[in-house]
Amino acid sequence: KMKLAVLTSGGDSAGMNAVVRAVVKTAIAKGCEAWVVREGYEGLVRGNAHDTQEVQDARASEDATFVNNLRFGDGELLKDGTGDYISGRTLRGRYIVRVGWDDVRGWFGEGGTLIGTARSTTFRTKEGRQTAAYNMIKEGIDALVVCGGDGSLTGADVFRSEWPQHVAALKADGQITEEQAIAHQHLRIVGLVGSIDNDMSMTDMTIGAPTALHRICESIDNINSTAYSHSRAFVLEVMGRHCGWLALMAGVSCGADFIFIPENPPAEEKWEDHMCKMIQSNREIGQRKTIVIVAEGAIDRNLNPIRADYIKDVLTDRLGLDTRVTTLGHTQRGGAPCAYDRIMPTLQGIEAVEALLQATPDTPSFMIGVSENKIIRVPLMEAVAMTRSVGVAISEKNFDKAMSLRDPEFAE
Ligand code: F6P
Repeated sequence: KMKLAVLTSGGDSAGMNAVVRAVVKTAIAKGCEAWVVREGYEGLVRGNAHDTQEVQDARASEDATFVNNLRFGDGELLKDGTGDYISGRTLRGRYIVRVGWDDVRGWFGEGGTLIGTARSTTFRTKEGRQTAAYNMIKEGIDALVVCGGDGSLTGADVFRSEWPQHVAALKADGQITEEQAIAHQHLRIVGLVGSIDNDMSMTDMTIGAPTALHRICESIDNINSTAYSHSRAFVLEVMGRHCGWLALMAGVSCGADFIFIPENPPAEEKWEDHMCKMIQSNREIGQRKTIVIVAEGAIDRNLNPIRADYIKDVLTDRLGLDTRVTTLGHTQRGGAPCAYDRIMPTLQGIEAVEALLQATPDTPSFMIGVSENKIIRVPLMEAVAMTRSVGVAISEKNFDKAMSLRDPEFAE
């Protein structure tokens, strides 16, 4: 019976809970044991070092009823009001937790990630990863679903390739038995891309990006009230790190006058002249308000950041517009997932479990993505490498190459 665990890592995004729900329910339906790891990789490193005596005794006795209750809905919950929280309930010192069908009920509609996420520094070290391997083997787990950005997915692949070394070292140290070493010779992993930025190659959409875009549209709709009423200009800074997808799509969805994105810096050295000319002409043909969207990673041709405050000064000084800056910040990242961020993570979570069940030591680690509305499996490290080369191309000022790497059809 396969025991598999799911964790979320990196910045939270809407839809991560739907991933956990789908993985847990599919795993159980297929006769596997489902576990969750709390607080991302940090939870793998911390493990279950703080088992209470009650839990340790139950393990030792293998009391089927009690062990079956070792789920975060039941036996693992401590009622003394201290410790960590999951689903609003108290759970102390245990990071790798078996879950049941009911534990993930209703998780579709929840924002963020209910099992927590963290940026773990210890997991970045080999020692940290060895401890993580020990904590997993202790629970009998050697299959992992990771939902996170490219850094988190690379971490998963590194962990997998090192796994046999960890097993050998743990056996040599006497931390695990010969039987455990034989039973857990290989780690199976599969990655799902959770990020509001839509910044991963080889998939059309990352989990959480549609919801974040929706949040941005709602905010712009709200801002439009004031913009129209006062005939003002607004400069909106949106997230996306080095990717302009959110800014570009928000601009199209909301009819922005001008958009700045990292992948396509303004062609002109003096882009201010061009922007002012366009906005002026929009005003002349009847536009009562002005919306400029700037991605947080926007740069000019010389790779210098383009800042919202600077754009505001340009609009005020050159066009005399009453201009305000709004940085949407983390309102973009939170809140209930839109329908697509429930459907896509659910289908991908099901595919992730299938991929784990079919994985062999020779198959590459897969990333589950979506392409032309179909759920796909692609080799994880190929997707990561392609994503990185886009970044390198941008930093070399080779923007056309960057765009064609990100979207091969662009090159044709
Ligand atoms: O990658 C998601 C994201 O929200 C980016 O758009 C943003 O640059 C970054 O994370 C902010 O991260 P945090 O607030 O977690 O430091």
